[in-house]
Amino acid sequence: MSRLGVNIDHIATIRQARGTLYPDPISAAKLAELAGADAIVCHLREDRRHIQDEDVYQLKKNLDIPLTLEMALTEEMIRIACDVKPTTVCLVPEKREELTTEGGFYVKKRFDELKEALRVFNSKNIAVSVFIDPDEESIGLVREAGGQIIELHTGAYCEAHSSLMTAHFHDCHCELCVVGRGNLKRILHSAQFSISLGLQCNAGHGLDYSNISPLVSAFKENKISIHEYNIGHSIIARSLFTGIKQAVGDMKKLLTNRDNLL
Ligand code: PXP
Repeated sequence: MSRLGVNIDHIATIRQARGTLYPDPISAAKLAELAGADAIVCHLREDRRHIQDEDVYQLKKNLDIPLTLEMALTEEMIRIACDVKPTTVCLVPEKREELTTEGGFYVKKRFDELKEALRVFNSKNIAVSVFIDPDEESIGLVREAGGQIIELHTGAYCEAHSSLMTAHFHDCHCELCVVGRGNLKRILHSAQFSISLGLQCNAGHGLDYSNISPLVSAFKENKISIHEYNIGHSIIARSLFTGIKQAVGDMKKLLTNRDNLL
């Protein structure tokens, strides 16, 4: 069964909005862990807009499940990651003005730096995942650089799908649905291709309680095994109404494809 990595950045977003000590992302992470999260994910952004350095150290210290640290490939972040030693680092592109991570890591342009980062992290026993757009060239280059894990950016699929009801999606001819189905096809093909190269394939970004089921079903129909889904915003948003335990549990059910919650 696919694993669920719960991203707790937006607990820290609420804390930072008022400069208080609460809500505490470490407590949220522990609740997610109790609710069955298989990993906790956080993104230490260069502008420190949500997660702070100390949060990452405290997560590492307090969690009993793996920690994934999302980070830009910079000297500062490499230094922090090597000090914290998360289970995995996930390399993402970062722009200061973006609301969230837009687009995948530009593997071609930063190939040599990626190769060197893989060497450094491997020597510290830290696994490396590269967050990429679903295209063959990027996947091939990650493999060539010596990478073993990719995370496919599902944002374009989610954007196209998000305003639609699940039932519409498969036979609707509106532009949004046609684009969404195209993105889904690209994701399926990329997942299949990466697994054929021996890479571990994760997926994430923009996944929520309505767009996850068509994706999980499509992977299942095509006998594609996704190792881990990384999901943050929708789970934290739902937890405001249901609590974290229920929000994580609901998402885990959808990943097993047993219930069709909306
Ligand atoms: N995966 C990666 C690499 C990300 O950068 C993010 C956003 O921090 C996510 C997954 C989670 O995205 P969302 O918050 O939209 O679920």
